[in-house]
Amino acid sequence: MRVVVTGAAGFIGSHVAEAAARQGHEVVAVDAPARSLSPATAAETWATLWSRPGITRVEADLAAVPQEVLGDLLAGADAVVHLAGRPGVRTSWGRGERAVRRDNVLATRRLLASARSARRSPPRVVVASSSSVYGSATGPCHEDQPVHPESPYARSKVEVERLAIAAAGDGVPTVVLRLFSVYGPRQRPDMAFHRFVEAVLDHRPVPVLGDGSQRRAFTEVADVVRATLLATTTALPPGIVINIGHPESVSLGHALSRIERLTGRPVAVERADAARGDVRRTWAATARAADLLGWEAGTSLDAGLAGQLAWHLGRRQARAAGSGPGIDPVPAATLPPGAAARDQELCRDR
Ligand SMILES: NC(=O)c1ccc[n+]([C@@H]2O[C@H](COP(=O)([O-])OP(=O)(O)OC[C@H]3O[C@@H](n4cnc5c(N)ncnc54)[C@H](O)[C@@H]3O)[C@@H](O)[C@H]2O)c1
Repeated sequence: MRVVVTGAAGFIGSHVAEAAARQGHEVVAVDAPARSLSPATAAETWATLWSRPGITRVEADLAAVPQEVLGDLLAGADAVVHLAGRPGVRTSWGRGERAVRRDNVLATRRLLASARSARRSPPRVVVASSSSVYGSATGPCHEDQPVHPESPYARSKVEVERLAIAAAGDGVPTVVLRLFSVYGPRQRPDMAFHRFVEAVLDHRPVPVLGDGSQRRAFTEVADVVRATLLATTTALPPGIVINIGHPESVSLGHALSRIERLTGRPVAVERADAARGDVRRTWAATARAADLLGWEAGTSLDAGLAGQLAWHLGRRQARAAGSGPGIDPVPAATLPPGAAARDQELCRDR
């Protein structure tokens, strides 16, 4: 299968691209690392993907490249996993609102327009939405309940969902995945666990926004990748919305205590005001994912945090040893023959 992964220089997208390639799919990885919330991190991850067999990278800003370039990108694709966008509630206020509208709404509208006009049958398009569309949960949130977006980011994702559902009405087999607080190796530097672990390893106080009682359905990235790839191949009603979240909703304070236990280091907390738009609780109803995809989040918080901690430690070791950016250093000997040439050719064409 030919799979286009957008946002492939990002946290989740890079894992999806690698996993799809490992499954033997032909992967076209698309990103514009300069559009990332953390351009330096995205550039490092993008460089890492270059060395992965089965992945061809194409640098393209989905909100800006000519529409025919998008059409060429999607030509012959069996599935598109659309993870490109501007994540994050906190940074979506003020000037950030323009960026979420551009990179979430406009980019998705343009991508779906190209999928509609695909020369052969339109590809399956799996679109990333967010648990933030629900607002604060008082019980498990079901896909059919009304949405209550409380930030520009959440509103942009509601709009992204509407675009995907409208495209399904026009014959594009879309699937909307509402992702719940994803964590694990390569987690974005602005996200809570990344900041917590780095602070603990540096013997700095851990910065916590609010009182730490806010709860999240923390979902490990390998589980999210598995759900995403299942969504590219499983027979599903077009335009279906599916929660991808761990069934437990746990407090940040609890997660911190687990990090404390894992690292064996006491955690000193530095409190700051709660962030505007950050909901009190997210909580996933998981029956639909189980029924339609046969998926459930299998990774416990302890196991997932241990994996993320190991990644932070490995990255530090690689940096200390001077073996490159330390995202996931890959020995040069494992570079696939011709990888660079293949990559550059596509980039030059575009
Ligand atoms: N991480 C989470 O917990 C979480 C939860 C819910 C939803 N999501 C959604 O999942 C997706 C991936 O999230 P992530 O955490 O991996 O974010 P990320 O920032 O690590 O990855 C997003 C990538 O999209 C790229 N991008 C942004 N605008 C682009 C554009 N115009 N053209 C091409 N590429 C562009 C960025 O360069 C970046 O590499 C996002 O849509 C996000 O909103 C993430």
